[in-house]
Amino acid sequence: MAVQDIIEALKKETLQDVGIDKNLAQLVKDIKMSGNVLTIVMEPPREGLEDLIRAKAIEVLSELPEVQKVDIKFSKPQGTQIPVKQTPPQGQPQHPPQQPMFTRKQVPGVKHIIAVGSGKGGVGKSTVAANLALALAKLGYKVGLLDADVYGPSVPTLFGLKGERVTVDQFQRLVPIEKYGIKVLSIGFMLPSEDTPIIWRGPMLMKAITEFLFSTKWGNLDYLIMDLPPGTGDVQITLAQNVEMTGAVVVTTPQDVALADVRKAVSMFREVNIPVLGVIENMAYFICPSDKQKYYIFGKGKVAEFASAYNLKILGSIPIDPEVAEKSDKGEPIVVSHPDSEVARAFISIAKMLAQVVHERA
Ligand SMILES: Nc1ncnc2c1ncn2[C@@H]1O[C@H](COP(=O)(O)OP(=O)(O)OP(=O)(O)O)[C@@H](O)[C@H]1O
Ligand SMILES: [Mg+2]
Repeated sequence: MAVQDIIEALKKETLQDVGIDKNLAQLVKDIKMSGNVLTIVMEPPREGLEDLIRAKAIEVLSELPEVQKVDIKFSKPQGTQIPVKQTPPQGQPQHPPQQPMFTRKQVPGVKHIIAVGSGKGGVGKSTVAANLALALAKLGYKVGLLDADVYGPSVPTLFGLKGERVTVDQFQRLVPIEKYGIKVLSIGFMLPSEDTPIIWRGPMLMKAITEFLFSTKWGNLDYLIMDLPPGTGDVQITLAQNVEMTGAVVVTTPQDVALADVRKAVSMFREVNIPVLGVIENMAYFICPSDKQKYYIFGKGKVAEFASAYNLKILGSIPIDPEVAEKSDKGEPIVVSHPDSEVARAFISIAKMLAQVVHERA
């Protein structure tokens, strides 16, 4: 394997997404190939970028046929980092520095990361995340689904993947499971058992989530949908600080209790500078099988009122359908099992609307 091939491959990846005008080849200090193991020493332009550089390097180098294993090592960044201080024009008040304390990184190969959040638990967030991902895939996009709900991962059940364990490839990247045409990775594939106590699911996994994102073999994706835990807790904050996302969608039901909590979720996303792309109203109405009428069990118009007060777009409304719960428990999401149902059509329409919103923002 010629060193030139390695350099050429590394030239293809840049650090422009973190505001650094360099390609990976420019960071190389040393290259060694011993057997099939490629060892590269790189100098990060600044500290904290090591994980990103490693993920990007492995992404391109794993394409080279002769490379079986890549070991990326880092030398210390040279020179002292001098923080750039901007002097305000004279006479103007000096504002406190607005620089964030963290670097949001783009997941290599993934165009759009969309978090699905909610204020309250049980409003159908996981159901929406799963079916939205499948609906986007039906529209022809390449899609991944990351179940980041450390407290109650439900993607294994929703996809009939309970008991599956995560595997890693020769580059130590996690390999998502392909099901129904999308790439699925759940924190549930990593827990020792379903009964793993909450205490072990907390801080340890929280930190791990960011790693999962960056050390997973997602390949090229148009959309990566993330099912977040309910509420406004540490997972949301950790992700917001570390990951470059396109935005979040929030799921609510028309009940007052759910609406009160989704307000908090919207405020939280806005506080951490994650754009809220829209609201999805779940369990909006029930279509009575005998008279085909829509019954607004939890009331009508409340979500629209909330959306307009918060200047948010409603991406769509999903009816209540007992089939949703039944099929979910069997690991057959409704978009796949009943593609012609009202619920499945609602998801397809929401996926189209979301893609349009994302497109308009880009
Ligand atoms: N539109 C719907 N019609 C009927 N049942 C639904 C609908 N949406 C969700 N459900 C059911 O409601 C329950 C809760 O849904 P889900 O697990 O998706 O909510 P969640 O917000 O992710 O909950 P958690 O907070 O526990 O993560 C499930 O049994 C699911 O099948
Ligand atoms: Mg859930």
